[in-house]
Amino acid sequence: MNNNITITVLGAGSMGTGIAQVAATAGHKVVLYDTNPEALKRAQAFILKMLNRSAEKGRISDADAKAIFSRLYLAEDLTAAQESDLVIEAIIENLEIKQSVFKKLENIVGEACILASNTSSLSIASIAAACGNPERVVGIHFFNPAPLMKLVEIIPAIQTDDAVLKKARTWIDEMGKLTVLARDTPGFIVNRVARPFYGEALRIYEEGIAEPATIDWAMTEIGGFRMGPFTLMDYIGNDINYTVTATVFKAFYYDPRYRPAFTQQRLSEAGYLGRKSGKGYYDYGENSVRPEPNKDTALGNQIFSRILVMLINEAADALHLRIANREDIDLAMTKGVNYPKGLLAWADEIGIDNCVKQMDALYDEYHEDRYRCSPLLRRMQRKEETFFEHIV
Ligand SMILES: NC(=O)c1ccc[n+]([C@@H]2O[C@H](COP(=O)([O-])OP(=O)(O)OC[C@H]3O[C@@H](n4cnc5c(N)ncnc54)[C@H](O)[C@@H]3O)[C@@H](O)[C@H]2O)c1
Repeated sequence: MNNNITITVLGAGSMGTGIAQVAATAGHKVVLYDTNPEALKRAQAFILKMLNRSAEKGRISDADAKAIFSRLYLAEDLTAAQESDLVIEAIIENLEIKQSVFKKLENIVGEACILASNTSSLSIASIAAACGNPERVVGIHFFNPAPLMKLVEIIPAIQTDDAVLKKARTWIDEMGKLTVLARDTPGFIVNRVARPFYGEALRIYEEGIAEPATIDWAMTEIGGFRMGPFTLMDYIGNDINYTVTATVFKAFYYDPRYRPAFTQQRLSEAGYLGRKSGKGYYDYGENSVRPEPNKDTALGNQIFSRILVMLINEAADALHLRIANREDIDLAMTKGVNYPKGLLAWADEIGIDNCVKQMDALYDEYHEDRYRCSPLLRRMQRKEETFFEHIV
């Protein structure tokens, strides 16, 4: 059976390029559209390079690489989206511009075409509201780089038709991705639940408890995370990471749990963006030497436990507010940001009672709303419940 469809990807930037490669690799005809012809050329050359590299490494055959590349069409005119079954928008993160593109699209595509947005921070409802038929709009949120990251968050807006949601999810599943369902709220699952990984690390640093190298050491060596928070922020780019935090903070009506750190804002303002600018929390110059961490185990454990419990509290609260189900929350963090364990399973492992006590100890110390314990954890502690069934 041939399930191949025509997919138009709008925006040939980092995300659009990756999404186009994923869709073409899955056998679909892909139209990649951008208003900037240079971006289109860059995207095409990049995809070709990636396919050739995969063929050289023997992951795909030369013939497959050629066939995938032949399914990719470039377009500078939106009318090229005419035959699409699915459009995935990955243009600039600006609501007015996205809305105007969706409005134009509706006059071009057929009635059955599904319109998706890859937005990280805008609500799907607000994008759908610009359309005459908002029921066909859905969020499909890939992670960067799209060909490598297995997770995709699927976000129905309140307007989205169930059949549209089901079809869109099936198409993405069939591309070999792992989809999770997220409520249309700021940051969806990953960009919400992951905030304390950066925020609490920055807070620990700002309070002078430890330097970035020590915090990174604690999180990788003791916690088992692949990258420490400061290495990761330097890798993502301090400008980008700061903007995500600031956007989430604002979208949550300034909930102190998501408050951005001045440290990161200053780094961003100074152009200390991380790897891409040669300097961030660390120096990436040719002869630079990484500062040595303070490998004090008690200090390391204190840092790791504090960041972990803040992450667990965030994950528990996401479940409490029905942002996603517990399986999807844990999958999102292990597959979307490569956490060593799902946070809810981790909570079970270290004990719900322990989590509540740690959160309450932080609250007692600071008396800040930032450290409020999720009501769900407290309720579970009272009832001696766990997130998942355990076979003892
Ligand atoms: N970068 C990430 O890590 C990431 C991850 C997930 C989702 N997203 C989301 O994906 C979207 C794209 O992000 P990106 O990082 O790929 O951006 P980018 O800046 O790399 O690319 C955006 C592209 O869109 C094009 N563009 C701008 N306005 C356009 C218009 N009106 N019509 C057609 N093309 C237009 C630009 O020329 C550019 O090539 C954003 O909504 C972003 O929030 C980004």
